[in-house]
Amino acid sequence: MEIATQDTTEHLLKIAEQHGTPTFVVDLEKIRQNYKEFKEHLPRIQVYYAVKANSDREIVKTLYEMGASFDVASLPEFMIVYENIKMLPKKEQEDFIWDKVIYANTIKPIETLQKLDHYKPLVTFDNAEELKKIKQHCPHAGLVLRIRVPNTGSMVELSSKFGAHPSEAVDLICDAFESDLVVEGISFHVGSQCNNFENYMQALQLSASILKESESRGYEIKILDIGGGFPVKYNSKVRSFTTLARKLNTEIKRLFPEDIQILAEPGRFMVANAGTLITKIIGKAVRDGKTCYYLNDGVYHTFSGIVFDHCQYPLKSFKDGEKKVCSAFGPTCDAFDTISVAEELPELEIGDLLYAENIGAYSIASSTYFNGFPPAKVVYINK
Ligand SMILES: Cc1ncc(COP(=O)(O)O)c(C=O)c1O
Repeated sequence: MEIATQDTTEHLLKIAEQHGTPTFVVDLEKIRQNYKEFKEHLPRIQVYYAVKANSDREIVKTLYEMGASFDVASLPEFMIVYENIKMLPKKEQEDFIWDKVIYANTIKPIETLQKLDHYKPLVTFDNAEELKKIKQHCPHAGLVLRIRVPNTGSMVELSSKFGAHPSEAVDLICDAFESDLVVEGISFHVGSQCNNFENYMQALQLSASILKESESRGYEIKILDIGGGFPVKYNSKVRSFTTLARKLNTEIKRLFPEDIQILAEPGRFMVANAGTLITKIIGKAVRDGKTCYYLNDGVYHTFSGIVFDHCQYPLKSFKDGEKKVCSAFGPTCDAFDTISVAEELPELEIGDLLYAENIGAYSIASSTYFNGFPPAKVVYINK
C-alpha cells in the first residue's frame, strides 16, 4: 500500500484546517485508477460496482462516467444509480437498466419488488419462496441464481446467509423457467477480502457444472456473475490481484463458452484505498498506566468497519516522536466505541490530529448519528 508522503500529510492538514474534523477525504482519481486496473487485468468482465461499499453519489457518478455498472442492495441504492441513468434518452434508459444495474440482494421486500417491476430489473434469488415473491410482484424481472460457494479464509464470510446449495440449483432454475420466469444468469460471492483464490476456482467449477446440467435440460444460462471479494492490499500478507486475475482468466476460458457474458461486483477493490479519515483528539486520560486518546470519530461512525468489516485502520500521527502503546476510543458514551487498545503513537495532546488510510470501503457507509454525532464531512480531491 502507498505510504503517505510529506506532501500528502501537508495536504491533509490543509483540508482539516479548511473543513474541520472529522473529515472523510475521497480521492476520486484513485477510484478511476482502481477501475482501470480491474479492467486492464480482467478485460472480459463488466464491473458492477457494489454500491454498499460506499454509496457516496460522487463515487457512483465517477464510476458511471468510467463505464461501470452497479450492484445495488436496496431501492434507495437503485435510485442513486438511476439518477445517472435517467439523464439518458428514454429508449436508452430502458436498454440500460440491465446493462447498468443488478439488484444483488437475494431477499427483497414485496414493496420493493412491486416498485422495481416497472424497470424490468435484473435480480438475484437463492430460494423457492423468493421465486414465488418475484413471480407475483416483479414478473418482468430477469433472474440470476446465486449459489453457495466456499468462503474459506475470506475476511467477511457471506455463505452462511446467502446462496442456494449447489445440489438445489438446477431444480430452482427449472422451477423458475416452468413458472414462466427467465433465469439469465448464475452468481456467487466468495466472501469479502478473499485471500484464498481457491474459493474462486471452486466457485467457477460449481457454476460451470450447474450451467451444463441446466443446458442439458433445455435451459440456457447467458450470464456468469463472479461477485465481489477482490482483495485490497491492506498489508503485505494480501495476495496480488494480478495473480488472481490471471487465474480467473485461465479458468473462465477453460470452463465457459466464449459467448457467455461475465460480470463482477467489486466493492472494496474500487474504493478502499481512496478514503482517508482525518480525526481530532478531543480528550486524553491515563488508565491503568496506559494513555487513552478520545477521538471525534469512532466505531459508530467512520470506524464502523472495525465491527462490521473485521478491518483495522492503523492510526497515524502528523507529529514525530517515540511511539508508545496506547488506546484510542470514539466520542460516544459507550465502552464498545473502542477503535484500538494496542495502537502505537507518539505522545499527543488534545487538539492534535490523526489520520487513517485505506478506510474507503464499508466505513462511512454504515455511519450513524449515535449520541447525536453526525457522520464525518466528505471532501473530494481530484474531482
Ligand atoms: C452481493 C454482493 N456483491 C458484492 C459485494 C461486494 O463485495 P466486495 O466488497 O468484497 O468486493 C458484496 C459485499 O458484501 C455483496 O454482498
